Amino acid sequence: MKTYRIALIPGDGIGNEVIPESLRVLDKVAASSGFKLEYQTFDYSCEQFEKTGKMAPDGWLDELRDFDNIFLGAVGRPDVPDHVSLWGLLIPIRRAFEQYVNLRPVKLLKGVSSPLKGIEAGDIDFLIVRENNEGEYSEIGGRLYEGSEHETVVQQSVFTRRGVDRVMRYAFEQAQTRRKHVTSATKSNGIIHSMPFWDERFKVISSDYADTTTDQFHIDILCAHFVQHPDWFDVVVASNLFGDILSDLGPAVVGGMGIAPGGNINPEGTFPSMFEPVHGSAPDIAGQGIANPIACFWTASMMLEHLNEPEAAKVLLDAVEAVTEEGTTLTKDLGGSASTKEVTDAVLAKIS
Ligand code: NAD
Ligand code: IPM
Ligand code: MN
Repeated sequence: MKTYRIALIPGDGIGNEVIPESLRVLDKVAASSGFKLEYQTFDYSCEQFEKTGKMAPDGWLDELRDFDNIFLGAVGRPDVPDHVSLWGLLIPIRRAFEQYVNLRPVKLLKGVSSPLKGIEAGDIDFLIVRENNEGEYSEIGGRLYEGSEHETVVQQSVFTRRGVDRVMRYAFEQAQTRRKHVTSATKSNGIIHSMPFWDERFKVISSDYADTTTDQFHIDILCAHFVQHPDWFDVVVASNLFGDILSDLGPAVVGGMGIAPGGNINPEGTFPSMFEPVHGSAPDIAGQGIANPIACFWTASMMLEHLNEPEAAKVLLDAVEAVTEEGTTLTKDLGGSASTKEVTDAVLAKIS
């Protein structure tokens, strides 16, 4: 039987709740579709940091290298500085494995109500393609005269032609399979070097896709359009930071963080890709058994799609949507009172 090897990193907080529930769903889908998923769990986390002073042991990236995919819950705990935990685990994986695309679909599922008036399932369906390896997220910089009144901090953004072109090209390729429209998130009125360069490369890459329509908006008004005209968008390409912000705002108009899926993609397949929901470790609800597992289920469906098991991916997402459409077994964030496990049971019941 075809077997895929998946590295599991549940991580912190609700990551430890939604990942195990996702495995129950994944295993049922795999069994009904005739393949197997073989898991190996890695306890890289803030707990490990507390014990050893490191988020993961020496050589950890090599341990992950040969898996077909990585499936990660969330990283971060209030007693560990976020830049330490995230730069000690999540961000190095994205970079070492050249997962230069962060793919984050925004789609209103049946039965989920948008906080916007008059919006129904089918009205909002777009894809955020976030640059995931460079841009505003960079370790270049430093601090001078620390602690003095002359304290000075420099944080350097990095935009390379290779990095910008490849993520834009990926966005255009995605658009070919959709409604053939690409929107670029810019800020070339205020950011004088990197963003005019971003716009210039957008123009160059778009010239290779003559039948694809394009537009671009400065990030400030783009945020407003996400709320006022979410139906305008098909594929949205953005730098690392802009894409990060847009990918919490987008989900907010279709039901919130509890449903938002994501994949860190290495398009060439030279390294494993990593699938993780957009949300974090949610320390405010962790340990209560009430986290919405749907974001992680949808993420799991994206992983199946990436493994080239599109039917199984569809079975999983259809089961999720059957549960949201029914509307009787939902967690608190979607207006219900069900537990994480009860939602899982409801989704399992929709998979034959
Ligand atoms: P968060 O996504 O963890 O939580 C934001 C809000 O959304 C909280 O009120 C939370 O309860 C709610 N929420 C999130 N996921 C939910 C779910 N599945 N079901 C129901 N409600 C859900 O973001 P935050 O509070 O900014 O960050 C918390 C920690 O997570 C920080 O340490 C942060 O750095 C980290 N973080 C990690 C990742 C990641 O690992 N990919 C992503 C974002 C934040
Ligand atoms: C996300 C998160 C991360 C990011 C943080 C936790 C570093 O917000 O995956 O969206 O900004 O990439
Ligand atoms: Mn984010």
